[in-house]
Amino acid sequence: MHVEKIFAPSDEAIRRAAAFLSSGELVGVPTETVYGLAANALDPTAIAKVFSAKGRPSTNPLIIHLASIDSLPLVTFQPLPSAIQQQVDALSDLWPGPLTLVLPRSSLVSDLVSAGRKTVAVRVPAHEVTQRLLRECGFPLAAPSANRSTYVSPTTAAHVAEGLGEHVAMILDGGPCGCGLESTIVLLEGRSATILRPGVITREELSHRLQTKVDVYRTTESKTAMLAPGMMREHYAPRTPLRLITQILPEQLSERCGRIAFGPISPEERSPYQYTEILSPTRDLNEVAKKLFAAIRDFDGRGLELIVVDVCESQGIGQAIMDRLLRAAAR
Ligand code: TXA
Ligand code: MG
Repeated sequence: MHVEKIFAPSDEAIRRAAAFLSSGELVGVPTETVYGLAANALDPTAIAKVFSAKGRPSTNPLIIHLASIDSLPLVTFQPLPSAIQQQVDALSDLWPGPLTLVLPRSSLVSDLVSAGRKTVAVRVPAHEVTQRLLRECGFPLAAPSANRSTYVSPTTAAHVAEGLGEHVAMILDGGPCGCGLESTIVLLEGRSATILRPGVITREELSHRLQTKVDVYRTTESKTAMLAPGMMREHYAPRTPLRLITQILPEQLSERCGRIAFGPISPEERSPYQYTEILSPTRDLNEVAKKLFAAIRDFDGRGLELIVVDVCESQGIGQAIMDRLLRAAAR
């Protein structure tokens, strides 16, 4: 499990992490969304290690993390087409934050990071620890979520140690992630903006800032492989079968089932389950998002036959929650 690789984020630990990264090693880093498996984005050998540690297909590109929007010209095509630049400007207040933009890429970014695409996914993370690390490094960090490919994303340093401990030089402990779901990914093309992955930054917020309708990419469309490669397969799925409460009849429940509820439920509703976890006393969906992955991982370690999870309306942050749950339930 490699807990000995987890370090509190002292200045000394940040310096060591930067030194590891600069010599081509991988480091587990906290972000406000989920923990990342970081590598020097400009070092192809380090990037290759990321793909192999995660068991990730080389066709699925990585997100580049920058300390500030000022470094954007380093990784994007220059100058950006003016319609795209205007959209970036309209969204720039959301950085640092849980927003990833897919933009035309600079030739400095290796084919490996971008899986041979003409675009690059970029974000400026808000977590104070990773901000300090990026500034210490001076180079951008490529960082996918720090889980084995298709498993649930990590929201604590211990989750990273559990899944990828043997592959990292160290893990910086920034506490449990504040958002708990991966960033919203937005593809900017010409004047249009398309959400490739819903997240904490909602479609409503993006439409408001861009003053235009923002579409959410439908992952069933045949173009998926081209536009949103990471959204093709089952994702975020525990080993234990997971079903939504709306997909299950009471007679399908055995003795070894767990229930993850978004808010309080009655003793009667609780009774068929061996374990129940209430994610929020007030059914606050931000709190649900923050705790959801940790609860799924926890239940996945209890030898259950089935994990049953609540549902919510697919709007606002509920859209990201339902996106992840529908994928997890697809296995
Ligand atoms: O919140 C997050 O975004 C976290 C933290 C660590 O920053 N990172 C993360 O990375 O979730 P990852 O690799 O697990 O997911 C990145 C997604 C994948 O679905 C990938 O296909 C997509 O971003 N992506 C990356 N580059 C892309 C590109 N050029 N075009 C379209 N999709 C891209
Ligand atoms: Mg991921």
